[in-house]
Amino acid sequence: MYRIKEKKELADGIYECWIEAPHISRHARAGQFLVLRIDDSGERIPLTISGVDGDDVRVIYMAVGKTTHYLASLGEGDLIRDVAGPLGTPATIRDYGTCVVIGGGVGIACTPIIAKELREAGNRVIGIIGARNAGLLICEDEMRDVCDELFVCTDDGSSGYHGFPAGLLKRELEALSIDAVWIIGPAIMMKITSEVTRPYGVKTFVSLNPIMVDGTGMCGSCRVTVGGETKFACVDGPEFDAHQVDFDELMRRQRIYLDQEKEALALYQNHECRCMGDRKHA
Ligand SMILES: Cc1cc2nc3c(=O)[nH]c(=O)nc-3n(C[C@H](O)[C@H](O)[C@H](O)COP(=O)(O)OP(=O)(O)OC[C@H]3O[C@@H](n4cnc5c(N)ncnc54)[C@H](O)[C@@H]3O)c2cc1C
Ligand code: FES
Repeated sequence: MYRIKEKKELADGIYECWIEAPHISRHARAGQFLVLRIDDSGERIPLTISGVDGDDVRVIYMAVGKTTHYLASLGEGDLIRDVAGPLGTPATIRDYGTCVVIGGGVGIACTPIIAKELREAGNRVIGIIGARNAGLLICEDEMRDVCDELFVCTDDGSSGYHGFPAGLLKRELEALSIDAVWIIGPAIMMKITSEVTRPYGVKTFVSLNPIMVDGTGMCGSCRVTVGGETKFACVDGPEFDAHQVDFDELMRRQRIYLDQEKEALALYQNHECRCMGDRKHA
């Protein structure tokens, strides 16, 4: 059993959770993830390791479906049945020169740990974080601390540059010599943003988020096509060369269980309402 040490809501529907898991915290590197299962009958979900502090690891997640809503309902002191990790290969950290680390939406959660390791490896690090609006921006102070420079953007212009990270990245590519770029966010954002670096020939990495079950290369659910070859994102990634990824296939496969996911969330929410009703009448 794994204890939740701290939990707070960072933005509307986005939560930060510190979990006591020394076997993970001792070995975790930027770019890796864990797989958790809340209770015996729960499904396994992968979440990026977004921070490490002593025996504790941090996950930052958006409540989108049944399991993430259930996780969001837990509080400090509550227990999680299984937490496996660190899984996946670490980010390709080395001294490149000048790097840009970009996070979109809840993908911003993965950026401080990458930016920090890149800076420790001797790079100059420029951060770009973007969200739909100012209320959904997360980890801004943390990114400011670990980056040499940070740019913020929002789709509606409510904070920073009015537009997408791709616009800011293009501006930086035109102004500076950039050696490597990381892009982490929704698949469509990674697809569009990585097209910006292609004409410049800049090494670009993305962290892929296909559906994962075991996280250890056994089930095949996370298969993606990279450079025309089948890869298992959980063991061969999740980080890959952005310019080699078949994003359209990734997005198609992410949607294959949409009907079942909607049904599971509706059942979970009905059950929660009934339990709350029972508690009110108790
Ligand atoms: C390596 C990796 C790291 C991730 N890191 C984060 C993170 O740091 N923060 C965060 O908010 N989200 C992260 N995700 C996505 C997260 O796993 C899903 O949001 C979560 O599994 C949704 O579960 P659910 O039951 O709440 O939603 P559901 O209603 O079951 O699904 C909602 C959507 O989430 C995706 N999803 C569902 N089940 C899985 C699964 N088992 N594996 C992967 N994707 C799934 C699908 O695209 C689906 O349409 C990561 C995914 C991967 C593969
Ligand atoms: S999650 Fe099963 S093979 Fe990757």
